[in-house]
Amino acid sequence: MIEEIESKVKEVLDFSSQDSGEIEKFRIKFLGKKGHISRYFSEFKKVDVSQKKEFGKAINKLKLVANNKLEELKKSLTKDSSNNSGNIDLTRPANLIELGSRHPISIIRDKIIDIFYKIGFNTSEGPEIEDDWHNFTALNLPFHHPARDMQDTFFIKKDPDLLLRTHTSSVQIRHMEDNDPPIRTISPGRVYRNEDISARSHCFFHQIEGLYIDKNVSFSDLKQTLLYFIKELFGKSKIRLRPSYFPFTEPSAEVDIYWGLNSETDFRITKGTGWLEIMGCGMVDPNVLDNCKIDSNKYTGFAFGMGIERIAMLLYQIEDIRILYDNDIRFNNQFRDSI
Ligand code: DAH
Repeated sequence: MIEEIESKVKEVLDFSSQDSGEIEKFRIKFLGKKGHISRYFSEFKKVDVSQKKEFGKAINKLKLVANNKLEELKKSLTKDSSNNSGNIDLTRPANLIELGSRHPISIIRDKIIDIFYKIGFNTSEGPEIEDDWHNFTALNLPFHHPARDMQDTFFIKKDPDLLLRTHTSSVQIRHMEDNDPPIRTISPGRVYRNEDISARSHCFFHQIEGLYIDKNVSFSDLKQTLLYFIKELFGKSKIRLRPSYFPFTEPSAEVDIYWGLNSETDFRITKGTGWLEIMGCGMVDPNVLDNCKIDSNKYTGFAFGMGIERIAMLLYQIEDIRILYDNDIRFNNQFRDSI
């Protein structure tokens, strides 16, 4: 038995490796719970008293040698891995970084901004957490106005009221408070409404707001501006304005585009009429100008607002709004070329 232990000592001393897997195997073989050393220790109990001293010495020697060897192997391994810069192949080509794609909502938003930029509109933004004044009151929607019901609101805090803005019209107010006319601005952003009415509906979506304030701005300016925009974005050349109501504009209108009836889809999305409602608009109510300290005797203006999701769905023929928020990479990657 002592000879066997001595041969194990030799085996340990002869062992050498640079491979961490091999070294671990070595550790288990000699120093592990079921390894040689613990086996010899359990056999020690059975050894005859006369041999105990010599046997004990031999096992302790094996244990010491094995522990030292393990330390030495581990040291050479860490030294080697921290000092292996010589092994790096600097001529190897870099890993390819996959090109991402922009989200269809961002693509459409940027297209709309570009179209208005060409006719002198800048962009402006406002906070998504708004106060009552900017989201409602200054827009001619005082506290008990029934039109507040049209936008079921997520309130955050009472007194002073804080809420998630229900539309980007709040940015109109902020922009007019901070800037003197002439004003030409486009305000894109995310808005929130508590619209839990169907499985498809969403509680947030995106809007773009437009505002033009100057001397002698008229309804025909509004119509021509919208016609230009619709030609640029949709390539369509016929629109109609239907009388409507918004508290912040007077008169107000809904804008329809003549989409045509050239396919089954056209029939479906226009409900057989050929016309598609696309946005709301109107002449800024003098009360709104006065609320922002802009002289309504001197200045007039128009405003409009539209949902970006709806436009993206029309232009990319997306049938279900939910796919815009799923972040399914197979869907998103289809927009790589439209960046
Ligand atoms: N704020 C309206 C909404 O969210 C949209 C809108 C309509 C904005 C008419 C306007 C406007 O600026 O003139 O439903």
